[in-house]
Amino acid sequence: MRIHQITDLHIPDGETTNDKTKSNVLKLLSFAHKDHSDLLVISGDLTMTDNSVQACEWLNSALPETPRTIIMPGNHDKASVLWEVFGPKRCISHDFYFALDIDAYKLIFVDTSSYSLPDDQIEFIKSEAANQASLLFIHHPPDLINPSGFMALNHALENAPQVSEAIKESQIEHVFCGHYHNAIDKDCDGFYLHLTPSPAFQIDLDSEEFYLQPFNPGVRIIDIEQTSITSHIIYV
Ligand SMILES: [Fe+2]
Repeated sequence: MRIHQITDLHIPDGETTNDKTKSNVLKLLSFAHKDHSDLLVISGDLTMTDNSVQACEWLNSALPETPRTIIMPGNHDKASVLWEVFGPKRCISHDFYFALDIDAYKLIFVDTSSYSLPDDQIEFIKSEAANQASLLFIHHPPDLINPSGFMALNHALENAPQVSEAIKESQIEHVFCGHYHNAIDKDCDGFYLHLTPSPAFQIDLDSEEFYLQPFNPGVRIIDIEQTSITSHIIYV
């Protein structure tokens, strides 16, 4: 099975068709479609103007029928807007946390749009991933990546240590996230963290100040082969 993940689209409002971000998003969607994706996960921060219905509707109309697509909220999204625009087919659950069984793995999706992972969702990942190898999709990284970088200093998941500990105690092997607007794969001594970049803008992870970096739009590929997981980024 092949999963594609894109994140932090930050689609602008307006009708302009030559916008760079929109064009990058279309390139990523086209790549996932042609690459015979079994599942596309869009892991939050869909709009540039918070909760923009217009930008969500643009994305909904741009999504191809295949692959099946799951929409997750980020801190710039409002769950009710996503549910209204994308519906149960793409949001799956009203409260935006749920689990799917895929081959030998369980895929777990949670909602950190409040900037922390609520206690009931921490209990959910503990119980769902207690006995079965699992992958977690979460908008915010549960590891600071670089504690002295701008995103870790200013925009980290508020209860990252508690979430990280719950993941380490579970059977979650790989965590796929966004929010930090860059790409990295890190061994977190208990799970592997995979950060997927944004097609809108890229943030320097090592500087204390907010610095933008040049970038190309990237999509994360996640291949599940029986009991093995591999993942890498393709830049389009
Ligand atoms: Fe973002």
